[in-house]
Amino acid sequence: MSSPPADPRAGNRPIRRVVYDEATIAARVRALGHEITRAYPDGDLLLVGLLKGSFVFLADLARNIERPLAVDFLVASSYGSGTVSGGEVRLLYEPASRLADRHILLVEDIIDSGRTLASLMDRLRSRGPRSLAVCALLDKRIAPPLPELRFVGFTAPPAFLVGYGLDHAEDFRHLPYIAEMG
Ligand code: IMP
Ligand code: MG
Repeated sequence: MSSPPADPRAGNRPIRRVVYDEATIAARVRALGHEITRAYPDGDLLLVGLLKGSFVFLADLARNIERPLAVDFLVASSYGSGTVSGGEVRLLYEPASRLADRHILLVEDIIDSGRTLASLMDRLRSRGPRSLAVCALLDKRIAPPLPELRFVGFTAPPAFLVGYGLDHAEDFRHLPYIAEMG
């Protein structure tokens, strides 16, 4: 929770505070990977990353899951350049992989209003998965409880966070830590 010096990766824009540093994230993602390994002792496992925000988390998480798995992606419309959750959610790309009879684990960066996820559950379930669960790195705990939310990295503060995949108007996704900008 220190106030770090300006980071050239952030174009030297001020970082108010680092909320989760690299080591904290790495330790938690490792633990999540072990939890997921234990939770799926058998069957086909497909990780479905919700783009773009989950790409960094998914890459680290997948490498901490010690059992066979496959990876696909899903693209839903997002906030655009704002910081407030918008209305309807549109699907721009659905996983081309077979979902039927496989364990589907949807990997999400952060849950804010929960609207994005809630609107995806029925669509994915209609494709007949063996199971359907969600792993979110961050949960702001604003959303109504989602029954499928099975793995959570951190309960996030009610701030707008960037880094480790999270963007503001497409900036900051490549910060290796998660921060609140000043
Ligand atoms: P929801 O539908 O309101 O839960 O919004 C979820 C999506 O909004 C996430 O997948 C993120 O892409 C984006 N989002 C929500 N909160 C933040 C934030 O604090 N920083 C960056 N993106 C966010
Ligand atoms: Mg986003």
